[in-house]
This record gives sequence, C-alpha cells and structure tokens, in this order.
Amino acid sequence: MSEAYIQNLIAERIGGRQYGKSTAIYKFEKIKRAKRAALTAHPGAEIIDMGVGEPDEMAFPEVVAELHKEALKSENRGYADNGDAALKEAAARYLDRVCGVQGIDPETEVMHSIGSKAALSILPAALINPGDYVLMTSPGYPVFGTHAKYYGGLVHNLRLAEANSFLPDLDGVPKDILGKAKVLVVNYPNNPTGASASSEFFAKVVSFAQANRLVVVHDAAYAALVFEGKPLSFLATAGAKEVGVELHSTSKSFNMTGWRCGFVAGNELLVKAYGDVKDNTDSGQFLAIQHAAAYCFDHPEITGKIAAKYSRRMDALVKVLGAAGFDEKKTKGSFFLYVKAPKVAVTKNGVRRDFRNAEEVSQWLISEKLISTVPWDDADAYLRFSVTFMAKDATDETRVLNELANRLGEVSFEF
Ligand SMILES: Cc1ncc(COP(=O)(O)O)c(C=O)c1O
Repeated sequence: MSEAYIQNLIAERIGGRQYGKSTAIYKFEKIKRAKRAALTAHPGAEIIDMGVGEPDEMAFPEVVAELHKEALKSENRGYADNGDAALKEAAARYLDRVCGVQGIDPETEVMHSIGSKAALSILPAALINPGDYVLMTSPGYPVFGTHAKYYGGLVHNLRLAEANSFLPDLDGVPKDILGKAKVLVVNYPNNPTGASASSEFFAKVVSFAQANRLVVVHDAAYAALVFEGKPLSFLATAGAKEVGVELHSTSKSFNMTGWRCGFVAGNELLVKAYGDVKDNTDSGQFLAIQHAAAYCFDHPEITGKIAAKYSRRMDALVKVLGAAGFDEKKTKGSFFLYVKAPKVAVTKNGVRRDFRNAEEVSQWLISEKLISTVPWDDADAYLRFSVTFMAKDATDETRVLNELANRLGEVSFEF
C-alpha cells in the first residue's frame, strides 16, 4: 500500500493531504525543547518552572479514600452514560452554597462532564451550523473554537487588553460579525491573564447575549480559586440561565486534573442538547470518580486550602517580580500571574539583548537563566507565571522563590 493511501483520506479539517507535514513547532513544544537544551548545556542544574498549567499536588487524601470506597462498589462498575443523581445533586448544592446560585434543578439543569475540555469539545456540535460565528476571547483556551471550526463555524477573536482589565470589549464587535454570531465563550478567572470578572460585566454579558440572540458559555474552570470573597458564578446573574451554561471542573479547584470530572449547568435545553451529543460521544465518567467529585463539591473547604496556598505563593511571586522591575499586581484568583514581557535584558556583564516578542523573552529566560514561563503574543507581549511550581514544602517554596529572585536579579530589564 502506498504511503499516500491514508494521507489522501485525512479530513480537510485537520489538514487533509498536508496533515502531519508541517514543520512548524508549537509554543509548548518549543518550551519543552528549550528546557531540554538548557539542561544539556548545564548538566545537573535546576530549571525553575513557572510555566506549569496545573496543580502541583495530588488530590486530598479524603477524596482518594472516597474514590477507593466507591470503586469497591459493584453497582459503580458499568457504563455511567449521562450519570446518576449523586454528582448532579452535589453540583446544585455547590452552586447554591458556594456560588450563591439558587434554584438549579439537579435533574434537568446539571450534567457531568469528563472535564471542561470535553464539554467545550461537545457543545459546538449542539450549537454550530456552517457559517455561524463564535466570539472567543484572545488570548484564551481555544477548544470550543477549534471544534466550532470542525463544524464549519468561524471564530471572531475578542482581544483581552490590560486597559480594559482583560475583559472583552463587547460593544466593539463589528455589526456584520454580530449578525452571524451564535455563541460567546468567556472564562473568568481567566487563563492566561488571571483576571476576574465582575457582576457588572456578567450583567452586561447577559444583556449583550439577549440583544444579539447569543448563547453564553462561561468556562468557570478557575472560578472557585479566589483569594478573597466568594467565587463569582455567571449563573448568579439575573437572566443568565435563559441564555447560557457554566462549566465547572474538579481539575484545578480540587487538584484533580487527571481524574477528568466536572459539570455543565444552566439552561435546561442547552444541558439536554449537551447530554444528547455527549451520549453519542462517551459513555460517561466512571461512577466512582463522579461520586468522589460529588464529595468534593460538598467539601469546598478543600478548594479554600488550595487557594490559600496559591495566595501565599502569589504574594511572594509579586514581590520577586516587582523587585526585578516587572509591574505586577496580585490577581483576585486562579494561579496565573500575567506580566508584560520586557523589551530588553541587560546582563551583569553588560550584554544587551533586545526582544521582538514574548516568545523570544521566554526562550532567553530558559536558555540563559533556566527559568521557564509561557509566552503569549496574541494581544501584546506577555509572560505567564504560574504559582503551581514544584516545591516539596513551604521551606522549599521559599527556596525556589529566592532562587528565582537571584536569577532575575542578575538581569536589568527594560519595558
Ligand atoms: C480555561 C480553561 N478551561 C478548561 C480547561 C480544561 O479543564 P479540564 O481539566 O476540566 O478539562 C483548562 C485547562 O487548562 C483551562 O485553562
């Protein structure tokens, strides 16, 4: 069989006959390669990895114990399909107690997900016809848009700028796009900017959606990780349930990225449509995992402890970056600190390096200082630091941050 046999059969949506032939290297692969090269050049050295996008610790022991207990039950062994009542009811209680969202019907307005990523990949099938536009924030988590494009949809990016507190300028969407737009995807606290929304912003989102007949998908993957006050749910906004759904996940809030469990809640018809496509996509998350997730949603104090750790690390990181010349303020939630990338670095021995973009800064920091960050050049040049860096304990955490301060202190940055 010729090599072209399968190549000629690949769908256009992932590149068709050109699939797999591109030599372009993507951002995260570039970071990986730069880290490998830095370690080869400096054998035995430590990379200070501030680019991690997930929790550094495992799930709490009581959650693992719950999984163990539930995994031993014969009735949990089979296909879970669209789930049983345990997670749905815990999710409704969670939305009420933790987020102040009353009146969610667990039977009809909640359904589990195999993580928010899976939900974001399923929802476009329920909503997008060819030619429909999705309004997505940029920079942002692209999964909904990727799948919308698979269905012939188009993505219009809403730039997140610091001057607008990293909130999208909804009034700036061109009229012709708005006429063809069907979905608005937002995510707060936001990856990568770390910015939080306000109830005024969510109220504006609801009225904007109503005025333009849009569905709103609020990806609340980081919603529970707040440093003060209560998590802000989109569903707590008057009218939100008429226009949209919100996605919650145990991944970041309960240190459970690998467990793959969350939920979609909100508009009944949207939840039903999500469930219908989901039913034709997967056979549900293992019930033992769903029940452990339900345990989590009834124990939000776990998230409180995780958030307290991130808050402590964030305070220290802001100081370290401030001392190195970065203009940075602590965020209200998430584990990200999004800092303006410097334009120039001058080392102690007077060597000057100009940067054209954040990617160049990130590569330079890895190769010269063994500090890993994630660059974002989608809307201005920024670096994303994450407080989920590896540290054995609080003492080690201080050591890592001191080491970061020492390495950055050897450089004078210009912005
Ligand atoms: C904004 C955002 N949404 C969703 C996800 C995926 O979350 P989950 O693990 O629940 O699929 C991530 C993961 O990094 C994320 O940053």
